Amino acid sequence: MKNIQLDITKAGQFVSPEIIAAYEPQVKAAQESLEQGTCPGNDFLGWLHLPTSITKEFIAELNATAQVLRENCEVVVVAGIGGSYLGARAVIEALSNSFQWLLNDTKNPVILFAGNNIGEDYLAELCDYLKNKKFGVINISKSGTTTETALAFRLLKKQCEDQFGKDVARKVIVAVTDAKKGAARTTADKEGYKSFIIPDNVGGRFSVLTPVGLLPIAVAGFNIEQLVAGAADMEKATALDVPFAENPSALYAAYRNALYADGKKIEILVNYQPKLHYMNEWWKQLYGESEGKDGKGIFPAAVDFTTDLHSMGQWIQEGERTIFETVISVENPNHKMLFPSDEENLDGLNFLAGKRIDEVNKMAELGTLLAHVDGGVPNMRISVPELNEYYLGQLIYFFELACGISGNLLNVNTFNQPGVEAYKKNMFALLNKPGYEKESEEIRAKLNA
Ligand code: PA5
Repeated sequence: MKNIQLDITKAGQFVSPEIIAAYEPQVKAAQESLEQGTCPGNDFLGWLHLPTSITKEFIAELNATAQVLRENCEVVVVAGIGGSYLGARAVIEALSNSFQWLLNDTKNPVILFAGNNIGEDYLAELCDYLKNKKFGVINISKSGTTTETALAFRLLKKQCEDQFGKDVARKVIVAVTDAKKGAARTTADKEGYKSFIIPDNVGGRFSVLTPVGLLPIAVAGFNIEQLVAGAADMEKATALDVPFAENPSALYAAYRNALYADGKKIEILVNYQPKLHYMNEWWKQLYGESEGKDGKGIFPAAVDFTTDLHSMGQWIQEGERTIFETVISVENPNHKMLFPSDEENLDGLNFLAGKRIDEVNKMAELGTLLAHVDGGVPNMRISVPELNEYYLGQLIYFFELACGISGNLLNVNTFNQPGVEAYKKNMFALLNKPGYEKESEEIRAKLNA
């Protein structure tokens, strides 16, 4: 099996080999502190050796539960937000037919996502769509009290029970939550739902290889054993004893920190496959929530090319030179299709006729890379042999480890997210949540000032 490859040649033009060599001892120390559990947030390091510790028995248990949902549901709604949602969606969308939910696929349930917004229209339209459908729910929340997810689950649980009765609902509702605490745990135990545990030592954004990601991915019909195998192989390929120059996570962490120190404050993750849109979203959360604190952190942005070359391309080519790009390039598409010939050739594109469409995409990618580098934008490239479970597993672990190293290099607590509470506090105060009386008064005084 090949590995995903990191190419830093076009970032190397902006950062000297001496600077990167100087990062080697710091990167080593940053990875060591993850291994030894001496870094800030060290009670959240359960993801570090997760891939190599997942057993065949556990995969079988997840697959068995997935099978129950697959056999009993036309639609499965995955309720969760942030780390309790993005990893599953990233993998499912990367592997699914782009029009999956419009196909009358009788083998696989339609997977929908909820609990990740407070849009009244979204929820009303979802509930409407589910009327007369055989649907199930995977309720994913570590805390069990996240407003967005709890709201969606209230609606979905009631609708499921009303439509099919409590006995069927018990079969098609599964909880993924804390072992002991929180509303989702209490409800699961009380109602007798099948449930899976989110380990205490794995934070949301590092949890895609726990049941948080694995269960929905299995329900969608994908091979979670291969996903875990890819992650486990990347865990070995990036182990502490792998030399710096051969460890892609260590190199990626070093380059992005060197670029940041040189004033490149924004990293743009680029894909050339629309199916990777949610991989971008997962990555944005992983890096944004991990590094953006204490007044520091690279701002993680993301674009889908070539689509966004027609919107953000101008800014990237000629805007403020504070950016660098990391491109995910998929070597081989899963289909083969040729650029068609046209008798009239009004668009003048017959010179492309007969070429693979992917060849055109690859030349767009290469042309963009050269243009952006010429325009002063350092580029790194992650080459993924093909979009399958195995390589996505590699990609996920590659990014997770690099994030752990990178956060330690930046000297932040990579694994907390205290800033996320600020909006919640204000929202609860504005909604007069019991216990928030003082905050309510303060916020109203601020609004009236
Ligand atoms: O990364 C994180 O910790 C967050 O994104 C959480 O996953 C998110 O807020 C959802 O939390 P919970 O699983 O408790 O509902």
